[in-house]
Amino acid sequence: MSQISISHRSPYKLSRGHKMVRRTFLKKTIKLFFFVVSSISISVFFLFSYPWKIRKKELTFFYVTDEDMLPVKGVRQVSIEYSRYSRPMRTKAYIVNTGSELFALSPVCSHLGCLVNWNWPRKRFLCPCHGGQYDITGNVIKGPPPAPLSRLPMKIDKEKVYIGLRV
Ligand code: FES
Repeated sequence: MSQISISHRSPYKLSRGHKMVRRTFLKKTIKLFFFVVSSISISVFFLFSYPWKIRKKELTFFYVTDEDMLPVKGVRQVSIEYSRYSRPMRTKAYIVNTGSELFALSPVCSHLGCLVNWNWPRKRFLCPCHGGQYDITGNVIKGPPPAPLSRLPMKIDKEKVYIGLRV
């Protein structure tokens, strides 16, 4: 008569070798999961933080004044007129001559984007919004602005002065 042996081991119980394989598989799966999640997060972050609109815009030079109207020493405000989406736009910029350097400054405050004004008596740019102050070269003297005023591209061609904007 043949004997039937009944194993008391559960069919679902894994041997030591199988446990190691399962643990390794789980570790790899978790690592892969976090790798995929972090890759997607980083991609989304760069996708939304990359200023596409700014990057796509071409640098265009606009006539602002004649060369003989440049400040001998000091600051002169100039207007820049252009059109965006067929609408006429106007902004301003400052041309600065320190005596040793001639350059154009953006009037956009580096704090929250208000437009600064040149104050002749105090010889500094003042921001009307939160009291930011910049010296004649655009460096921050006082207040919350985290960075200097931006310099704008400027060129002189045939005695005419042009400032470049990305519009
Ligand atoms: S926007 Fe100029 S100081 Fe805040």
